[in-house]
Amino acid sequence: MLIAIPDVLTAEQVAHARKLLDAADWVDGKGTAGYQSARAKDNMQLPEESPAARELGEMILAALSKNPLFLAAALPLQIFPPLFNRYSGGQSFGTHVDNAIRQHRTLPVRIRTDISATLFFAGPEEYDGGELCIEDTYGVQRVKLPPGHMVLYPSTSLHHVTPVTRGARVCSFFWLQSMIRDDAKRSLLFDLDLSIQRLGRDLKNNPVADQTAVQLTGVYHNLLRQWVEM
Ligand code: NI
Repeated sequence: MLIAIPDVLTAEQVAHARKLLDAADWVDGKGTAGYQSARAKDNMQLPEESPAARELGEMILAALSKNPLFLAAALPLQIFPPLFNRYSGGQSFGTHVDNAIRQHRTLPVRIRTDISATLFFAGPEEYDGGELCIEDTYGVQRVKLPPGHMVLYPSTSLHHVTPVTRGARVCSFFWLQSMIRDDAKRSLLFDLDLSIQRLGRDLKNNPVADQTAVQLTGVYHNLLRQWVEM
């Protein structure tokens, strides 16, 4: 499942982040790539332990912990501390798949990557190219979102970032381990969750709808119980 989560950050948070990111010292992004993806990767990153990365990473995690759409779609067990990258001057990232296991360099964090996330800090009008292209069963999805918005996609997908030919593309990227490992099962639970919410909203004060919603909520939790890994 590929899903956009709008307004993860407020305009003020994005502006604050941009101030820190524009002043930060960026290093070659090959540092966090695996052997094979290092050959495809050409971008800049913030060092994981840099104060700006730490501060902004905490800001993102705090925002996500209160975002109902994110929580329903991802069912997160553990989120990797957000990293930050910057593409300019023709930089790109060729087709690759993200590593299955991510170990943090300095923190005691090791996760299985079920879902990959990219949170945008630069507006689409600020740069040309820099599209995140994700290959899924429907073909290639091209993603370029407004600042403060985030895309989630299965970490099993092949993906690439097209060359940035004008301006700079600044994003945060990270992974998470979900309580539901399988993307198809997670999508089913998300659909069921949305349907239950819609039932409650659209058929308010209808006793039959209320009873159905209770029953379906039971089905949701019982499926979750069957499939959850913690
Ligand atoms: Ni990747």
